[in-house]
Amino acid sequence: MSVRVYIPRDAAAVSVGADAVARAMTQQIGSRRLDVSVVRNGSRGMFWLEPLVEVETPGGRIAYGRVSVEALEDLIGSGMLEGRPHALCLGPTEEIPFLKKQERLTFARCGITDPVSLSDYVSHGGYRGLERALHLMPETIVEEVVTSGLRGRGGAGFPTGIKWRTVLQTEADQKYIVCNADEGDSGTYADRMIMEGDPFVLIEGMTIAAIAVGATSGYIYLRSEYPHAYRTLRRAIAIGYEKGYLGANVAGSGKRFDLEVRLGAGAYICGEETSLLESLEGKRGQIRFKPPVPAIKGLFGKPTVVNNVISLATVPIILEKGGGYYRDFGMDKSRGTLTIQLAGNIKHGGLVEKAFGLTLREAIYDFGGGTASGRPLRAVQVGGPLGAYFPPSLLDTPLDYEAFTERKGMLGHGGIVVFDDTVDLARQARFAMEFCAVESCGKCTPCRIGSTRGVEVIDKIIANEDRAKNLELLADLCEVLTDGSLCALGGLIPLPVQSAIRYFPEDFDKPAPPPPVGGAGRNQETRSWH
Ligand SMILES: Cc1cc2nc3c(=O)[nH]c(=O)nc-3n(C[C@H](O)[C@H](O)[C@H](O)COP(=O)(O)O)c2cc1C
Ligand code: SF4
Repeated sequence: MSVRVYIPRDAAAVSVGADAVARAMTQQIGSRRLDVSVVRNGSRGMFWLEPLVEVETPGGRIAYGRVSVEALEDLIGSGMLEGRPHALCLGPTEEIPFLKKQERLTFARCGITDPVSLSDYVSHGGYRGLERALHLMPETIVEEVVTSGLRGRGGAGFPTGIKWRTVLQTEADQKYIVCNADEGDSGTYADRMIMEGDPFVLIEGMTIAAIAVGATSGYIYLRSEYPHAYRTLRRAIAIGYEKGYLGANVAGSGKRFDLEVRLGAGAYICGEETSLLESLEGKRGQIRFKPPVPAIKGLFGKPTVVNNVISLATVPIILEKGGGYYRDFGMDKSRGTLTIQLAGNIKHGGLVEKAFGLTLREAIYDFGGGTASGRPLRAVQVGGPLGAYFPPSLLDTPLDYEAFTERKGMLGHGGIVVFDDTVDLARQARFAMEFCAVESCGKCTPCRIGSTRGVEVIDKIIANEDRAKNLELLADLCEVLTDGSLCALGGLIPLPVQSAIRYFPEDFDKPAPPPPVGGAGRNQETRSWH
């Protein structure tokens, strides 16, 4: 019987040599005349083990990692293709503790199936959600999503079902489904992983959304930095059309749904939904005034569902198993599972899907294994560049939207970036403000001008120029940004800045750094930080 070997095609695995390992494996198969087929799967999300090669055996899949081209000959000679032991053998994949302890609902198939095989998708439970949705009234589909408690995974945590209800109830000749795949937050990659590893689950989720609200057309707005996801999505969409899951007669229902991928414009602000819509319409990515919200007046002025990739990719399991099933996971108002992305100075970086309520400490230590450097952890930034820096004393905070808001933080898209004790929080605060200055869309004054002034003030604080007065000025500026900004970029940038000052005041109270050799000014020195 032919043996199946799985070698990921995920960009993270490719970046550490998965393509070369796949080529070498194909060569070995040819030269040894082996009855083996190579499947390029998605990643299991254990990045420190990539390239992770899996071999299908009668007792299940056996994992080997990190596999290099150099190690391959020895691995094959030692019986890897029969799942035999080797120094790189990790045992049954599903038994690896990092994976075994997870609750994978949205990511149930990622890393298991061939991402561009529709038959693999269907044989692993794919399209069951759509099948059920096609037998329900649109209102019932929407209520199922409301019941599930699903909240938008793009950052704001708005209830998905309520958004859909607004679009459903708004009369229009045309409605749209827009998937926000701009994934701009630092330390996040869940959207990319699912688009590369299980694209049909996103396509199915968007199709269910379309049927629920009465939309016939959809767009995936994908960041241009994701060429692998782009290729995989385009291939999956083409297959969807070929096999009748997209187009004029979705799964024989007589309902139309057309879907296209559009490449983003490379700006962080294009991830904000109204800028995204501007960009999708071919204009400069700049914030629109709200109201009206996109659910009433969105793409080309028509009612539009704008949802994050993970929100939409979670819809199929909700429709398949029922809103109540999904709701049973999680805590308080954060229902279901969170796709946690471990990044930064972390030993075991990767994707953890787990019910809301897990603490930061459990995520970082039980899954992530602590810092990669082995030095003490000093700070954690959760929720992307607009998220707060938490000190170790806040590590028992549960991963829950409200728990983070109460502590003046933000869960955002679930990215956790870990720093050890070598981090300088004054520099991180400056970095946050500079990020805002660079990425500001320029529509409102507090953010456009305030962020640049903020960088200057932090520079003065670091240089110990009138420190007390400038710290006061920075506090005032943060208040103006919070209260006066038009969108959350300017409105939330005080979170990382103020948390750095609140929890790490000693970093703002150091002697001024010596001037750089050659007598260059402060600006030149600070520029070299980035
Ligand atoms: C500055 C800024 C950047 C954002 N970037 C993203 C992004 O990259 N991806 C995303 O899904 N949502 C992003 N959002 C949130 C979106 O505006 C919007 O809330 C989201 O697409 C709605 O989908 P959801 O309800 O499924 O989360 C961003 C918001 C702001 C203010
Ligand atoms: S806060 Fe910044 S990004 Fe948002 S609208 Fe104002 S200028 Fe644009």
